[in-house]
Amino acid sequence: MSLTTPYYLIDKSKLLANMEKIALLRERSGAKALLALKCFATWSVFDFMRDYMDGTTSSSLNEVRLGHERFGKETHAYSVAYADYEIDEVVSHADKIIFNSIAQLDRFADKAAGIVRGLRLNPGISSSSFDLADPARPFSRLGEWDVKKVEPVMDRISGFMIHNNCENGDFDLFDRMLRVIEEKFAPLLKKAEWVSLGGGIHFTGETYPLERFAERLKRFAGEYGVEVYLEPGEASITRSTTLETTVLDLLNNGKDLAIVDSSIEAHMLDLLIYREKAKLSPNTGPHRYMICGKSCLAGDIFGEFDFENELKVGDRISIQDAAGYTMVKKNWFNGVKMPAIAIRELDGEIKTVREFTYADYEESLS
Ligand SMILES: Cc1ncc(COP(=O)(O)O)c(C=O)c1O
Repeated sequence: MSLTTPYYLIDKSKLLANMEKIALLRERSGAKALLALKCFATWSVFDFMRDYMDGTTSSSLNEVRLGHERFGKETHAYSVAYADYEIDEVVSHADKIIFNSIAQLDRFADKAAGIVRGLRLNPGISSSSFDLADPARPFSRLGEWDVKKVEPVMDRISGFMIHNNCENGDFDLFDRMLRVIEEKFAPLLKKAEWVSLGGGIHFTGETYPLERFAERLKRFAGEYGVEVYLEPGEASITRSTTLETTVLDLLNNGKDLAIVDSSIEAHMLDLLIYREKAKLSPNTGPHRYMICGKSCLAGDIFGEFDFENELKVGDRISIQDAAGYTMVKKNWFNGVKMPAIAIRELDGEIKTVREFTYADYEESLS
């Protein structure tokens, strides 16, 4: 029986390809890889991912708890700011806690004395071309940057997190930025025991020079005597998942339009925020359609794509690359039916692991 759309479909065989690259990188470089839950937190596949990764990293109390309870292994806690009422619980779930500022370290160092403590550094450069997602944007609140201010707190921390790569598939750019980090923060790195280089490095891409990357990480670890961590989000799950939708209506307003039973605003929000169009495959043929979401937002549009045949109501449209920053960001805008979550097992069997009902919608409000 075919599942009712919309649903996210996670294909384990595709996920496996990323996992094997991560495992290879860990082996070659000695670096550890923690899944960034902000990007992907669909815990039904954690049993599968666990064998290939070292643990998780988080951006809130809820994420650190999920990582601890559902993934296990090593659990890093980070947040832009912790509240007094959550710090004890955060510490209870974490192996390491990384503070975003010296002020937060001052406030909570004692409460976190039982676990490893670190600080986020901001090197002032990034690979982001989008101001909204640029951790090194002017006046950025994301991490400390002044070596003179950090040196005096080294007695309370043993390592650093530096996240400044964003969708970076260019190894040479990673290498150049790491050199800048080394120049800027050498006195701190020499005193550190561990350094997390964050996420945003697209090293599971087909053409990424994995061996050079591994060598660079190993050299960095050796030069400063540190354990290196990576926090891959997107790189862990890229190309593993589709959003399966069905055509509900067809219109022509000068262009052929097809409305599907999903919404870019509600189910793939990042595409809208970053003004990117969705990916469809193979996207060839003589019939061009604008694929539109069903929310009331005028710009709820997945993009324009080419098809071999004219579309009909009931046709299936599979939106590609729908794992990262989708399920963690989905929302109930317009009350649009929330996509179910399904998994294609390695033997091809598809099972639904979560369906959302009216009760979920009602309970998300009061
Ligand atoms: C601190 C930190 N670590 C890891 C990530 C994961 O990044 P990505 O999903 O691009 O790999 C992010 C993304 O914003 C981040 O801010």
